[in-house]
Amino acid sequence: MSFPTTRLRRLRRSELLRSFVQETRLSAKNFIYPLFVGPGSGVKREIASMPGNYQFSVDRVGEECREVADLGVPAVLLFGIPETKDERGSSAYGDDCIVAQAVRAIRQAVGEKLLILCDVCLCEYTSHGHCGVLKGQEVDNDATLDLLAEESLSYARAGADMVAPSDMMDGRVRAIRRALDGASLSHVSILAYSAKYASVFYGPFREAADSAPQFGDRRSYQMDPSNQREALREIALDIEEGADMVMIKPAMPYLDVICRARQEFPIPIAAYQVSGEYSMIVAAAQRGWIDRERAMMETLTAIRRAGADVILTYFAKDAARLLAC
Ligand code: PBG
Repeated sequence: MSFPTTRLRRLRRSELLRSFVQETRLSAKNFIYPLFVGPGSGVKREIASMPGNYQFSVDRVGEECREVADLGVPAVLLFGIPETKDERGSSAYGDDCIVAQAVRAIRQAVGEKLLILCDVCLCEYTSHGHCGVLKGQEVDNDATLDLLAEESLSYARAGADMVAPSDMMDGRVRAIRRALDGASLSHVSILAYSAKYASVFYGPFREAADSAPQFGDRRSYQMDPSNQREALREIALDIEEGADMVMIKPAMPYLDVICRARQEFPIPIAAYQVSGEYSMIVAAAQRGWIDRERAMMETLTAIRRAGADVILTYFAKDAARLLAC
C-alpha cells in the first residue's frame, strides 16, 4: 500500500494525534541529576563553564536535593571536590571524605525520597589528575582497584544506594562487588560506566571538578571514539563482573552504541549527557542561536529513543519542570 492510499501525514495533523502515536515519551522518573559537592559552608557557587549548575557545600546540598525530589527526579549522582589532593587520592575515601559527608546530609534531608548515587573515581582527588595511582607516567590498573573498592565502601557505608565507577580500570566492577559483599553491603548496586569514551565533551566538567590531568590524557584507559564493538565487550565484561546497570558516555555522539547495547543486553542502560553536550546547548541559546528548551527536549528524547532507560543530565531539573506543565 502506498501513496495515495497511505498518507503518513494523516497522523501528524494535530497535537492530540501526534501525541497519541508518540513512540518515545520522556519522564522525569528516568532522570539522574549530577551534583558537585565541595568544601566550606554556606556555599552555592555557580560553575562558570556550566551555567545553571552549582558547587554546593555539604550544609547546602540537602536543600538542593529536596528541590530535586519535589520535581519528581528520583536520583542524584554526587561528585566530590576535596580540599586537598595527593598522589593516591586519599581524600576520596574514609568516613569523613566529602562525598560520604554529603551522602549523610542528603539522607537526613530527603530520607528515602531520592536514590543517592556516587561517582567513584580518583581524578578529582589525585594531584596529577589521573583516574588511578601512577607507576612512573602510567596509571597502574591493579594497584588502583583496592583504592576504588575502598572509595566505594566509604560511600556505601555512608548510605549510598548505588556506586558508579567511572575510572575505566579493568576489573574494577569485580573488585568493588567483592568489597561490598564482604562488608555486608550486598544491597548496594553498581552502575558501571562501561563504555566511557576519551571524549572532548568532558571539558566543562573538568573545569567544574578541577580534575584535568596534569600531563598526558586519558586515552590509555578511556575508550577510542572510533570503536563500537569494543563497547559491547566492555559492557559484557562489566555484566559478568557484577554490574547491575551499565552506562554509555557521552550520549549524543554515541547513540549508535546505545542502540546496539540495547539490542544485545537485557540489563538497564544509562546514558550520560555530559557537560560539553549541556554547555554547547546553553551557550548557543545564550547567543540566540538555538532554542534552549527545544534543544533540551529533542536531545533527551533522542537519547531515550536510541534505547537508554535512564539519562544522567544537567537538564534534569529544567526538563522535569517542563514535563510537569
Ligand atoms: C570522572 C568523571 C568525569 C566525568 C564523569 N566522571 C570526567 C573525566 O573522565 O574526565 C565527566 C562528566 C561530564 O563531562 O559531565 N572520571
